[in-house]
Amino acid sequence: MRLHPAVAAAARGEFPSWAQAGEARRAHMARVADLMEHWARTLGLESGEVSRWRAGAFLHDVLRDAPPDALRAEAPAELRELDGPLLHGPVAARRLREVEGVGDEELLDAVAFHTLGHPDLAELGRSLFAADFLDPGRSLDDAWRRSLRDRMPDDRSDVVRAVLRARISHSLEADRSLRPETVAFWNVLVEEVRGG
Ligand SMILES: [Fe+2]
Ligand SMILES: [Fe+2]
Repeated sequence: MRLHPAVAAAARGEFPSWAQAGEARRAHMARVADLMEHWARTLGLESGEVSRWRAGAFLHDVLRDAPPDALRAEAPAELRELDGPLLHGPVAARRLREVEGVGDEELLDAVAFHTLGHPDLAELGRSLFAADFLDPGRSLDDAWRRSLRDRMPDDRSDVVRAVLRARISHSLEADRSLRPETVAFWNVLVEEVRGG
């Protein structure tokens, strides 16, 4: 598999010149990359694919420390009204496409929707969604999160659903609205379980 140079660089832990991510954020991305690499290897993916999974991890929060108001104008029109902390994924994906010329749609979707979730997320995107939440370096790393981590990647269907359920519950308890992408992601996951 031939990786785009910006993707190959990200897999090595090198960030684009326009990255706005501080030390702590970069350390988080490196831990997520280690989780993603471990899962990809356990699944027996070939080395180019393992690099792609690492790159997704190293790119997902590349704009997380940028001021949201600076990102808003760059967000796709349908996502421009998102809460500030949710803009970094969609704008990072857009810059990867438009500034770097990355055309790997699965990887771009994984980055864009790592916080919201999206019904189109494939293996890479779903794993990134879980890995971001299950980073062992998070201040909240309780027994429940550790047990979910231990079940990856074999039980990924159940684990991804558990992570999404937790995120949705958190939003409901905080009286926050749900994005249609998030609800559609939930519906797809539940239908997959029902469908066997
Ligand atoms: Fe993020
Ligand atoms: Fe993250």
